[in-house]
Amino acid sequence: GQWGVRFSYLPQHQPRGLADAFIIGADFIGDSPSALALADNIHFGNGTAEMLRRATKRTKGATVLAHQVSDPERFGVAEFAADGETIISLEEKPRRPKSSFAVTGLYFYDEKVCEMAASLRPSARGELEITDINRGYLQRGELTAEKTPPNAKWFDAGTPESMADAADTIRQTQKAQKTILCAPEESAFNNDWISRRELHHLAAALGETEYAAHLRRIADEK
Ligand code: G1P
Repeated sequence: GQWGVRFSYLPQHQPRGLADAFIIGADFIGDSPSALALADNIHFGNGTAEMLRRATKRTKGATVLAHQVSDPERFGVAEFAADGETIISLEEKPRRPKSSFAVTGLYFYDEKVCEMAASLRPSARGELEITDINRGYLQRGELTAEKTPPNAKWFDAGTPESMADAADTIRQTQKAQKTILCAPEESAFNNDWISRRELHHLAAALGETEYAAHLRRIADEK
């Protein structure tokens, strides 16, 4: 289908939690499937693209991503059955987490999500919780949780500390691999969503930066 991106900033609107995105964005989404990406979340590493492709191909239900962490109490937490794949519970920032798998801030939904958001009640902390939408899918037996691939990285860069950690890891990885990570123009070109000419055009608009040089190199190599 057609994928679109919308950034909403409504100064008069008091955001009521992440699930509010599906109330604010209901007209934009219509009857289409959609994805919600929290802007402070960063995913990368081998196997990430395949994981995301599987998530976008599922036509029914929802997909969340689960990443093993040392501090699950800071996140939504997914508990898995003995098969290691079937998700059996989801809790938002539990005091006693049932697993070490954090649900990351990149979510994939079928066309039911706006209707489900519209019927949510605020949680104890007064928010429309994305975790409550995901629990709704879980109750219907329509929630898939994809564990991130071994060695894949995930950052919730929502604090100065975690943002600095993320920047440092990306700097080190880029230096070691002599590449640029997470360039959307490169992904678009590799997936044949834009032509070589368009990639050159996008690179030209970015001037004499290292990033633009990387895009020009990609355009000339393939
Ligand atoms: C939100 C979600 C949480 C998720 C996290 C990922 O938390 O509520 O379930 O694990 O994003 O970044 P927040 O960052 O709003 O506290």
